Amino acid sequence: MEQQRGQWSGRLGFILAAAGSAVGLGNLWKFPYIAWENNGGAFVLVYIIAVAIVGIPIMMAETLLGRRGKRDPIGTFRALAAGKRGARLWPGVGVLGVITGVIILSYYSVIAGWTLRYIGMAISGHLGELARQPDGLSGFFLGFIGSGDQQVLWTFCFMAATTLVVVFGVQNGIERAARILMPVLFSLLVVLVIYAMTMAGFGKAMAFIFRPNFGELTRGGVLEAVGHSFFTLSLGMGVMLTYGSYMRKQDSIPRAAVTISILDTVIAIMACMIMYSIIFSYDMPVAKSSAILFTTLPAVFFQMPGGALISALFYLLVAFAALTSTISLLEVVSSYAIDELGWQRRKATLTVAAAIFAFGILSALSVGGSDAPGNPTLSHINIIGRESTEGFFGTMDYLASNWCLPVGGFLIALFTGWALTRRETQEELEEGHGLMRFFPLWRFLIKFAAPAAVGAIIVSVILGAEYQ
Ligand code: TRP
Repeated sequence: MEQQRGQWSGRLGFILAAAGSAVGLGNLWKFPYIAWENNGGAFVLVYIIAVAIVGIPIMMAETLLGRRGKRDPIGTFRALAAGKRGARLWPGVGVLGVITGVIILSYYSVIAGWTLRYIGMAISGHLGELARQPDGLSGFFLGFIGSGDQQVLWTFCFMAATTLVVVFGVQNGIERAARILMPVLFSLLVVLVIYAMTMAGFGKAMAFIFRPNFGELTRGGVLEAVGHSFFTLSLGMGVMLTYGSYMRKQDSIPRAAVTISILDTVIAIMACMIMYSIIFSYDMPVAKSSAILFTTLPAVFFQMPGGALISALFYLLVAFAALTSTISLLEVVSSYAIDELGWQRRKATLTVAAAIFAFGILSALSVGGSDAPGNPTLSHINIIGRESTEGFFGTMDYLASNWCLPVGGFLIALFTGWALTRRETQEELEEGHGLMRFFPLWRFLIKFAAPAAVGAIIVSVILGAEYQ
């Protein structure tokens, strides 16, 4: 059993795979538009603070649980809680995580599928033609997401790609994919940022991102920033726990967590620099901020020289980022079937992926919006945004981001900070790291600061405060 279990080849393997999970649609699509809606500056700063005091400590906690438990999330909680108070209840956190994985993957793969369609459109030249017609892009986009067949088809393609990687296992599948995709993704982003620097709107974009104006920050914005720090770092459902379970004892957990979080944040900010430079340079009206990526941006790409190439590269980049994230979601659910049900990896992955795809059809069919049949506009679509929790798709995202991840994160922090002893956690964090100077700070954050901040989100969602 022990020997069969997958393992990363080394320090870099874990970091790349975990960063691959973290960097995804959350960075390239969701962060730029929620930061836009919250007027940048102050929101970005609060988000960075949330990553530092909530995100990094919880990432270290999840990883240490996984490396100590060496199992899927449910088995890990069962093993680590043995003999402690509430030993029978803690595995419930793992159950919640596996369910959350099913929910997130079922709708995430729908949007990920769009990127495949747009790569094809960019290469074939269709995207360029649409960009030259007034309302061509938004018309196409609405027709595309309103077509059930198309949505199911592209969701299927993306799930198939994800499954293919996960079937090959930890080192030959997940790690290998991340080793190729992550450097390519980062290089593409750097090229696009350099391009953005040459644009007239770059200065304005930088000011928008980095000049905080606290007068513009709402309470809802603060909570949204904290909530997003979970989503973007893949925390609260056991991804880092599962990936941590494949980690070697001789690698440092604290260093890895800090590296991954910095990388994730830098990439989110780079995505903002690119998109805002474009928006400010061309004075584009932003119709629906959550659709910027598929309607506003292509219009601009084709005003630039080499638009076809730039847009093809761009959607390829988004697809890569999404793929390394869907891989991690599928791996959590598969690892449950492998460790708990004793299935072979192939059988586990194929079965679980088929079930999630079947469930995802509901999201795929709902994404085009149902309240305006015949003549939908951008404001009728049900893709993620604070304005839409209607439709199956919106409901799934609302459930996952506002309930499952915060509750999961809260319980993970409580378990690590209060159920495990100081010695247990210190031992695991210092294994492969050496003496950890910041251990008392970490312990304070995980015992008090993180539960308080996450608890505030949960309370505010219960009270119905505007969040997300
Ligand atoms: N972090 C990814 C993103 O930013 C999405 C993701 C992958 C995720 N695995 C997760 C979010 C687990 C929450 C939990 O796009």
